[in-house]
Amino acid sequence: MSRYYLDCMVCGQVYTPAEAEYLCPDHGDAGTLDVIYDYEQISHTTARTDLSGDSMWRYRPLLPITPQAAVPPLRIGWTPLQPSPSLAAEAGVATLWIKDETCQPTGSLKDRASAMAVVKAGERGAAVTTTASTGNAAAALAGVAASVGGATVIFVPAAAPRAKIAQLLAYGARVVLVDGSYDQAVELCLDIGRRRGWYNRTTGFNPYMSEGKKTVGYEIAEQLGWQTPDVVVVPVGDGCILGAVYKGFYDLRELGWIDRIPRLVGVQAEGSAFLAEAWRNGEDVVTKAPIEAVTVADSIAAGLPRDRVKAIRAVTHTDGVFVTVSDAEILAAIPAVAARSGIFLEPAAAASWAGLVAARHDGVIGPQTRVVMLGTGSGLKDVDAALRAVEEAGREPVRAAASAAAVEEALGELVPS
Ligand SMILES: Cc1ncc(COP(=O)(O)O)c(C=O)c1O
Ligand SMILES: [Zn+2]
Repeated sequence: MSRYYLDCMVCGQVYTPAEAEYLCPDHGDAGTLDVIYDYEQISHTTARTDLSGDSMWRYRPLLPITPQAAVPPLRIGWTPLQPSPSLAAEAGVATLWIKDETCQPTGSLKDRASAMAVVKAGERGAAVTTTASTGNAAAALAGVAASVGGATVIFVPAAAPRAKIAQLLAYGARVVLVDGSYDQAVELCLDIGRRRGWYNRTTGFNPYMSEGKKTVGYEIAEQLGWQTPDVVVVPVGDGCILGAVYKGFYDLRELGWIDRIPRLVGVQAEGSAFLAEAWRNGEDVVTKAPIEAVTVADSIAAGLPRDRVKAIRAVTHTDGVFVTVSDAEILAAIPAVAARSGIFLEPAAAASWAGLVAARHDGVIGPQTRVVMLGTGSGLKDVDAALRAVEEAGREPVRAAASAAAVEEALGELVPS
């Protein structure tokens, strides 16, 4: 008997893991599956005090893997929850923490999902694992698979930031640079992966990716002493992280480990706002037509968010909101966060800060709020965007010839900030 089942987000049909591997057979790509557990059973066998280890696998009894499953040797998860009084004051909220996912082995939150994919591929004895990605999920899969000697084939848009492509090649992945959008890369990966019988990690297609990512919600709750923050701010492309954060808090509430789920604020780029638009206009995300997605924040560019049904559920079930931010605000957020917290974020991650400022400004978030903002990926992932951001913020290095006198002169009265 399985410890968990898969529930179609569109029709509610329940499948065993053997009956449905990826999507609900009746609902095409909108029929994403939600993993459901017998919470009563888990709460009889597992208590909060049983958790141990300094990685995401401390939550093993709440994950869809067998007790014997081998997990990758890289340490994934249990990232710092960094308080930032300076950013809290700047945003005008009571307390602000950044969940610092830049510390993950491949530099983004996607390691959590990719670790789950590698375990699942291992369970099936798959020779090759594939994914389409805007870059981070791919780097995460390539890196985690490398740690267990697994082969990967990765589909990314040719315009992906160079650091992400370098990471993929360094980890030894077979890389297909698709001359097209992320959405086109997804279609190709699903098609070729199916024909070749590869295990597919693609977000919003593989139901277990949310289960890996939900551990970020568990950690936030546990690191705050099982006290739920009021708000969690999440940057949104496909909507998988947003849906997964909801799932993490939902599991904990069902187990009685926390008493409420925080409000979730989903942040989208103005040029890639499928979900924010649908939410504002009350549109059905199952039938809404794809949009053309254009934003400097490549990781949240998604014309047809693959996990759209879970993402909308996350916001509506938590009395949350979607906010949209411009590319200029996203770029400005990179040095704004870095200079006040020491945490260097890539554009998609910095969008969290821009979204928090917008939500506070609109009065959606009040001054007494305790906020966690997800720092989903490292600034080193997209150095070109970071350089553009600092230039636009008026931060320039001082140029001088290689002599003390020249440096003294160039520095002038400048006081280090
Ligand atoms: C750094 C970063 N932030 C946010 C996101 C958005 O996650 P999702 O596509 O699940 O909404 C991604 C996804 O690639 C990402 O890499
Ligand atoms: Zn269905």
